[in-house]
Amino acid sequence: MSRIINVGVSDTKIDLFEGQYSVPNGMTYNSYLVTDDKTALIDTVDGNFKKEWLANVNAARGNKAIDYLIVQHMEPDHSACIKLFAETFPSTVIVANSKTIQMMKQYFRGFEFNTKEVKDGEELCLGETTLKFFFTPMVHWPEVMMTYETATKSLFSADAFGKFGTSDCDEPWLDEARRYYIGIVGKYGAQVQAALKKLSALEIKNVYSLHGPALTGDLSEILNKYNVWSSYLPETDGVLIAYTSIYGNTLDAVLELAKRLKGKTDFKVVDVARTDWAETVADCFKYSKIVFATTTYNGTIFPCMNSLINAIVERNFQNRTVGFIENGSWAPMAAKVMKDKLSSQKNLTFIEQEVKIVSSLSEENLSQIDVLAQSLLSK
Ligand SMILES: Cc1cc2nc3c(=O)[nH]c(=O)nc-3n(C[C@H](O)[C@H](O)[C@H](O)COP(=O)(O)O)c2cc1C
Repeated sequence: MSRIINVGVSDTKIDLFEGQYSVPNGMTYNSYLVTDDKTALIDTVDGNFKKEWLANVNAARGNKAIDYLIVQHMEPDHSACIKLFAETFPSTVIVANSKTIQMMKQYFRGFEFNTKEVKDGEELCLGETTLKFFFTPMVHWPEVMMTYETATKSLFSADAFGKFGTSDCDEPWLDEARRYYIGIVGKYGAQVQAALKKLSALEIKNVYSLHGPALTGDLSEILNKYNVWSSYLPETDGVLIAYTSIYGNTLDAVLELAKRLKGKTDFKVVDVARTDWAETVADCFKYSKIVFATTTYNGTIFPCMNSLINAIVERNFQNRTVGFIENGSWAPMAAKVMKDKLSSQKNLTFIEQEVKIVSSLSEENLSQIDVLAQSLLSK
């Protein structure tokens, strides 16, 4: 009978995942052993966990040989231990596609791996169960493939459906899965759509991602979230107000706007300078309407607002309604700078009424905020 055992590790010491994402609840690097007449290991783990992972692999395999190592993704948090594995188990066949084999040569120069190249859709029989490989390029590297295991109807999804945080940390899947997806895969919506289409004919009962917990039971909500996110559709009908304010005057306008929205729509106010950047980026993709409020700063906009807008543009921000609040004391231009930065994005509706503060709130600004609020509350 086939069995799936997670031989992965938890990283509770990591500060920044992929060098930039804060992960207060750590990270998992999953690796799976599928045992049947033949035994296959799916992916390895981050190089800092070589010993612990190898011990997990040995404990799980008992006295069985490992016939195959399936390499789904060459990002080093999953591939760093391939060479160690090949040295430890020289007769194991490494199953990979041509792009992966090329990357293995790039990462492990001069080492000769015992590889078997597979094509998209190819199958590998382990006994009762069969592994079926599906190439899913740019989800989120070009060599990525996913693996479907037929006996338990399980999808090994590489980085897809992952989340930040160790598997056993006490938090719901959604928020950290969204922050992970939008941050890391958000740019590749079209490729995620192609992958979802390719996998749509499969009956999937379990999803085993390389990060985060195993997903089982009713997977429809999770699949629906991936469909919404990768189509760049809003997840929540409501308003995100993302602001920066050095001395509090721009914040005064934000609070006036919030007063007018309260009780009438779902909304969230975020101080961009004091909030995790990837959370704010994810929120920009969550809400249907976004108000960007910032100060003119050295002839452009406040640096963290500049970074936020760059980050959402990089991730194909589109299909949203956008409003602007600006401040400036001698040559205000924040609204123009923000609008210009967003002007190349698809299907953005800019609210005509901008709030244009000169140093501090005026009566005219309050009227502008009234009109902006009305526009945000209209359908
Ligand atoms: C370092 C710095 C640079 C600024 N650069 C500009 C500028 O280029 N043009 C302008 O009109 N105002 C500029 N301002 C003025 C701010 O936009 C102004 O102080 C604004 O009222 C600040 O809003 P706040 O109270 O929300 O921080 C600058 C302010 C600071 C502190």
